[in-house]
Amino acid sequence: MHPFSKTKIAVLSELMGAGDLTVSGGALCLSLGLTRQAVWKAVNALREDGYVIESIPHKGYRFVSLPKNDLDPSLIEAFLLDCPWGHPVLYWESLNSTQVPAKELARKGAPEGLIVTTSYQTSGRGRLGRRWVSAPEGGIFFSLVIRPVLPPESIQLLSLVSAMSVQDALFTLHGVRCQLKWPNDILWENSKLCGILTEVSSEPGLVHFAVTGIGINANSSNVSLDEGSETVSLSSITGKKIHRGELIAGVVRYLHGAVRGLEAPGGMKRALDEYSSRCDTLGRKVRVVSDEGEVIGEAVALGEKGEIIVRTKDGTQTFTSADVNHLRALG
Ligand code: BTN
Repeated sequence: MHPFSKTKIAVLSELMGAGDLTVSGGALCLSLGLTRQAVWKAVNALREDGYVIESIPHKGYRFVSLPKNDLDPSLIEAFLLDCPWGHPVLYWESLNSTQVPAKELARKGAPEGLIVTTSYQTSGRGRLGRRWVSAPEGGIFFSLVIRPVLPPESIQLLSLVSAMSVQDALFTLHGVRCQLKWPNDILWENSKLCGILTEVSSEPGLVHFAVTGIGINANSSNVSLDEGSETVSLSSITGKKIHRGELIAGVVRYLHGAVRGLEAPGGMKRALDEYSSRCDTLGRKVRVVSDEGEVIGEAVALGEKGEIIVRTKDGTQTFTSADVNHLRALG
C-alpha cells in the first residue's frame, strides 16, 4: 500500500473509532507514530474525499460524517484495517467489468486481497458467458484477487465458500437469512439477490490466482441482474439503505477466514460438509442445463470437489458446471 494512504486510513480509523469524542493531534501522533504535519495532511486529504472532520481549537479533531460515496476506498480499507485482505481497494466510478482490471493486476503480481470496485459496470459478466446487468445506481460490484493454496481441480470449493461468506455477511450485518443455490447464487424467497463469478489462472498442479467477482443487488430495485432470473434487492428486504462499502468489507472479512480455513488440513471436507448443510438445492427437484443437455431429477449430494450429484430416472449424474433451476416440488 502507498505509505500516505496507509496514514490516511489509520487516521480515519482512529477518528471514526472515537465516535463523537474529540481526539487531540498529540494523541493521534502518539498512537500512530506520526508527526503533527503528517496527521494534518491526512485529515486534509480525508476532507478532500468528502469526510467532514471538525478542528476544535486546543482540543483536536472530531469525526462528523462520511462522504456521500459509500464505496470510498479509504473507508472500505478502514473497515478492513485488522484484516490482511482489502489492501489496496481500487475504485472507479465506471468500468466495463471489475473482473478486467482485477485479473490484469493479478497477472502483474497484485497482492492477495486486492479489491476492485465501481459504481457502475457497462459490460458486467456472469457465469456461463452470460451478461450481468448493472442497475444505474446502488448495486455492489466488486472483484477480489485470491491466491489460494489449493489443487486446481478443487477450485470450485472457492465458489462455495464465497457464497457462504456472502450469506454470513448478509446475516451478520443485516439480519437477512438467504438461501444458497448451487453453486454460488444467493436467493431470497426464490429471487436472486447475489451472483458470484470465479475466474482462475492455473497450470497443472498449481493455481496462480483466482479472481472472485461478486454482484449484490443492494439498493436498486426492479433490475434484472442476469438474463432470465427474478431478482430482489437487499434494501427492499430490509427497508433500509444499504451501506455498500460496509457490506463489501463484511463479505471480504468472512471470505478471508473461509479461504484460510479451506487451505488448512481437513479444510476442504469441512467446507463441503458446511456447504451441504446450508445448500437449498440439495433434496430438491431440479432442472439441470449443461453442455450435455437438460435433465430433471433430485439433487442428492455434492461430490468431493463441489460437483452436484443428481438422481434421475436413468441413474445418477454428476455435474461440475451447469445451470440449476429449483423446481417447485418433487413428483
Ligand atoms: C452470475 O450469477 O452469473 C455471476 C455474476 C457475477 C457478477 C459480478 S459483479 C462484479 C464482477 N464483475 C463482473 O463483471 N461480474 C462479477
